[in-house]
Amino acid sequence: MADLSVFCRRRDKFFSDLGDYAAIIPAAQLVTHHADCDYPFRQNSDFWYLTGFDEPNAVALFLPYRPIGERYILFVLPKESGAEVWNGFRWGTKGVLSNFDVDIAHPLNELPKRLSHYLEGAEGIAFRIGKHSHLEPLILRTWSEHLQKLPRSGLAPLSMIAPCPILHNMRLRKDDFEIDRIRLASKISAEAHELARDYACPGMNERTLQAAIEKYFLDKGARGPAYGSIVASGDNACVLHYVSNNSIMKNGDLVLIDAGCSLDDYYNGDITRTFPVNGQFSGEQKALYEIVLESQLAAIKSVRPGSNAEDVHLTALKYLIDGLIDIGLLVGEVDSIIEQQSYSHLYMHRTGHWLGLDVHDVGAYRLGDYHLNLEPGMVLTVEPGIYISDRLPVSEGQPEIGERWKGIGIRIEDDVLVSKEGVEVLSERAAKKVIDMED
Ligand code: GLY
Ligand code: MN
Ligand code: MN
Repeated sequence: MADLSVFCRRRDKFFSDLGDYAAIIPAAQLVTHHADCDYPFRQNSDFWYLTGFDEPNAVALFLPYRPIGERYILFVLPKESGAEVWNGFRWGTKGVLSNFDVDIAHPLNELPKRLSHYLEGAEGIAFRIGKHSHLEPLILRTWSEHLQKLPRSGLAPLSMIAPCPILHNMRLRKDDFEIDRIRLASKISAEAHELARDYACPGMNERTLQAAIEKYFLDKGARGPAYGSIVASGDNACVLHYVSNNSIMKNGDLVLIDAGCSLDDYYNGDITRTFPVNGQFSGEQKALYEIVLESQLAAIKSVRPGSNAEDVHLTALKYLIDGLIDIGLLVGEVDSIIEQQSYSHLYMHRTGHWLGLDVHDVGAYRLGDYHLNLEPGMVLTVEPGIYISDRLPVSEGQPEIGERWKGIGIRIEDDVLVSKEGVEVLSERAAKKVIDMED
């Protein structure tokens, strides 16, 4: 079990940011895969961040305006031997009380009768409408009943706000504990990429390589892959979310692997490497790889406090476009190519995203026209790429692409921490120099 003081610190900050609002944060529910089988349980990251409680269906109440000893309430599935025989251990209310620092624990089925009482004294309710359809009717009905009584009681929660801005501002800025966990997830993920490069060979199915990577994650104590691992050889690499991973890797192909592990407490790595299956780049593959690598290194260098995610993206774009002009795959001036997005048949995604408890982690990138400054403690990915196929038409005014370039997809992705000094690459154990990618 994780160190409880971590969650306690977060709740203290959350309470102070909530003012006199009551926050209602639900756990995730199990999702049916088919028939009687569920997907493996994945906790709601907001709920996990505040509670460290890893069971489905629970509901957490945060009530900063209530007396001490009545502020942090968990409603949980009760102990039930029949259900536990089929689906495993539950803490139940007593277990939660003695192990999770809650003020009060109730069985989940008592939420409808108790919610109204706990909302008494709240100035408003912080609950995310539109995401928790199983709870929404109960919460709206209870709120409405409070409003009905307003003429007599004189007090009721008057407004509903989304808790996301408060919580996601907190989650965007990682403390030392979180940074250590992401560092570990990135390290295990990077080691799996190193292993994959040694293991791959022509004639191997992409799935065999996927199995080796994911076995490494599990052997190292991770929960498993953080997202559907992408093992995409040849032209498959030009499909950005290719996850079928069921082609034979051919002599002469590159293979793009986008894979990262998720730890037991849900911190994630997210790394992409691309290398020649037979250990030798062709001339075209090497030319494109060097462009992507130069772009990625420049983009990583642009990560520092005071910069922003848009600067990082624009830096990557400039280097990519410069390189593509040099080899004749784009024509024109860099700035006008950017302005008209006439690179978009070759590079169609952004250069990165926040990384944390979610792989595409929460937190704003911009507030209207203002791009949020990078600050020490923020973690993001830097992942430029080039993808050459016939799937998209060539942008207006740009040259047709020779056959020799087609079917090449390259992405290089690292996990980076904004530090006081500038930037730390958390996934640096995964090699990426040309010399290291060849035998
Ligand atoms: N693996 C998903 C991404 O790179 O964003
Ligand atoms: Mn990513
Ligand atoms: Mn990725």
